[in-house]
Amino acid sequence: MSNIIQVGLYNAEASSSKELSGQIQSLNLVRLVSQVGNDQDLANLLENSSIQVVFFHLDPDHAKTIDLIENVAQRYPDIAMIALSHESDPEGILAPIRAGCDQFVCEPVEPDDLAAALARVMSKRFQKKGTSRCICVTGASGGAGTTSIASTLAMEIGQLTGKRSVLVDLDLQFGDLAVNFDLDPKYTLHDAVTLGDDLDGSVLENILTPTHCDVSLLPRPNNIEQVEHISPDAIHHVIATLRGSYETVVVDVPRHINPCSFAALGQAEKILVICQLLVPSIRNANRLVESLKKLGVLNERIEVIPNRCGSSGGRITVKDLEALIKRPVYACIPNDYLYVAQSIDFGRPLSSGDKKKNPVREEIRMIAKKLVEGPEDETEPTDQRRGLFGRLLSK
Ligand SMILES: Nc1ncnc2c1ncn2[C@@H]1O[C@H](COP(=O)(O)OP(=O)(O)OP(=O)(O)O)[C@@H](O)[C@H]1O
Ligand SMILES: [Mg+2]
Repeated sequence: MSNIIQVGLYNAEASSSKELSGQIQSLNLVRLVSQVGNDQDLANLLENSSIQVVFFHLDPDHAKTIDLIENVAQRYPDIAMIALSHESDPEGILAPIRAGCDQFVCEPVEPDDLAAALARVMSKRFQKKGTSRCICVTGASGGAGTTSIASTLAMEIGQLTGKRSVLVDLDLQFGDLAVNFDLDPKYTLHDAVTLGDDLDGSVLENILTPTHCDVSLLPRPNNIEQVEHISPDAIHHVIATLRGSYETVVVDVPRHINPCSFAALGQAEKILVICQLLVPSIRNANRLVESLKKLGVLNERIEVIPNRCGSSGGRITVKDLEALIKRPVYACIPNDYLYVAQSIDFGRPLSSGDKKKNPVREEIRMIAKKLVEGPEDETEPTDQRRGLFGRLLSK
């Protein structure tokens, strides 16, 4: 399964044809299958291709194009539609939406607007619904505690649900998830990616590395040279396949926003931004949250979690952090260096085999509970602005 979006363009205005098709073609992960300028060609295109989205240029004849949109909406309810026009008065925007368009983009078209509109459509119409959840954990600063938290969270969710969860190391160059579990895995993300379309649920079973707790691991590639063979599309495919077989996929996402991390972030029901109560870290947390929102991620999908709270000497409080990020934090993980460092050194993430209560572990367990038992509408948002497809699509 590819995550390239097949789109068509209906445009009866010859003068804008080159510019509009160029703008659509410049979107990432989009293939413009064809541009058509009349009803017959549009009908052929819809009948003979697997188009997912059609862009309708309303100009010059709005009434005619809106009739067409109405027809397409009735005959092809699974095809999404985006209207484009120079006219942006309220009635001009409402008419195509009433006829069945999902989005309206005003001309002259800004590349980001086009990408954002497509992102919203893809999220609303095509993002996989179901019982599986993808949780991305990413750090606002290096060493914020992302890997420790992602590992423990995956274990806690596995324990809570009684279903083995999967932990993916997307820190492709220097990830240390396998080391955290004291494992020397046979197969890695590179092997999963190399399988391409042959990768399915049963093959995955063999590729994943089991751990001593309720987690299976898909570690980073063995060699740094292998990283260049891993495309965003391949990562998207691997995570989507994992979601087909496992209820929970937790991804340790490096803090660099790039197409490979987008491929995971775009599928996440929750993105947990881990920071520390230090000025650079909370500034970066704020920047990360803001840019995720700009990329089209629903606000409710992003959560900020300060780690190592209460460490001595810190002047910044959780309240300061909340004021800056303008939202309550999702949780507050206390500081316990000895406990966390020992867990890492012994290859035994926080909760496994440990009968004693520890505040760090307890807080991560509480996060796991919130994620698993969270309100229905948190996992099935009704808002249209889902996913990170926006910036993924924008070159
Ligand atoms: N709650 C905590 N209390 C005390 N120390 C912690 C806590 N969480 C993490 N640490 C320590 O912080 C260090 C970094 O942790 P970790 O590797 O999980 O961070 P990271 O964000 O994944 O780092 P990187 O940016 O290198 O990937 C480790 O030494 C770990 O022991
Ligand atoms: Mg890490």
